[in-house]
Amino acid sequence: MNDVINPKPDIEANTMDKHRSEFDVEINGTVGKPFVDNAKMSSRNCDVFYGDKQAIFGIDLDIGNNEIIALIGPSGCGKSTYLRVLNRMNDTIQICRVTGEHTLDGEDIYGKKTDPVLLRARVGMVFQKPNPFPKSIYDNVAYGARLHGLASNRAELDDLVEASLIKAGLFKEVKDDLLKPGTGLSGGQQQRLCIARAIAVDPEVILMDEPTSALDPIATAIIEELMDELKSNYTIAIVTHSMQQAARVSQRTAYFHMGKLVEVNDTDKVFTNPEHKLTENYITGRFG
Ligand SMILES: Nc1ncnc2c1ncn2[C@@H]1O[C@H](COP(=O)(O)OP(=O)(O)OP(=O)(O)O)[C@@H](O)[C@H]1O
Ligand SMILES: [Mg+2]
Repeated sequence: MNDVINPKPDIEANTMDKHRSEFDVEINGTVGKPFVDNAKMSSRNCDVFYGDKQAIFGIDLDIGNNEIIALIGPSGCGKSTYLRVLNRMNDTIQICRVTGEHTLDGEDIYGKKTDPVLLRARVGMVFQKPNPFPKSIYDNVAYGARLHGLASNRAELDDLVEASLIKAGLFKEVKDDLLKPGTGLSGGQQQRLCIARAIAVDPEVILMDEPTSALDPIATAIIEELMDELKSNYTIAIVTHSMQQAARVSQRTAYFHMGKLVEVNDTDKVFTNPEHKLTENYITGRFG
């Protein structure tokens, strides 16, 4: 009967089994080194739900002080969702619910005493698409400093804007155009402007969600160099779909798969000798 309906059941079953054996490897906790001695941020038992749908399952992870950690994995595996846990950006999504313990320098970032606006100054964010405000270059960088009262007079604000643009590697290119609109810059310049805006409020952690995916290779190289300089003062978590980028910029790499954290290891190890089969499948291009 079956044979009539489906003339090739065995072949299909075999294909399915092969598929299963390669990709449906069980995920029992995280292998490798998810914990560090000098954690700047930590998550324990992190679950995230959008309505009834669970997007993140029981993640335990430390992000070390002054390290760059790369978050990689197939589309929809929860990288952006997890990044937004770290500065409570998920609070702005009504149906989103985050559980678990999350700390910055050991302090509970979801505690009653934590003001999410102040938290986001300490844990800044740079998005995939450069999103300068429709304001001048100067005002873009000065925005957060004004909001948080970081400069007491115009001269101090001028200095802060200049210092932030220098750190973001943009000052030389825009120093004569500070009053021109930020939106008039090239994509790569706009992204450095957004980095300057994040830096201006003196954050401790910078979260970057695919910060170079809309940029050409030259603009990408400039941002990557910049990240290398920034890591002496900041802790950085970067989501990237480029494994070359993860390998170039990060010290540790975290591999996410269907909402779970499969493996965290030194970046060299992840790309040369991954511990988990799923990581290997992903980095060798067999998944995602
Ligand atoms: N605002 C939202 N509302 C409902 N579901 C969401 C929302 N944002 C993300 N999700 C769901 O959560 C899961 C994880 O999504 P997320 O955007 O974190 O993945 P990602 O790893 O960043 O993917 P990509 O590489 O495509 O950016 C997906 O199933 C996605 O559909
Ligand atoms: Mg994403």
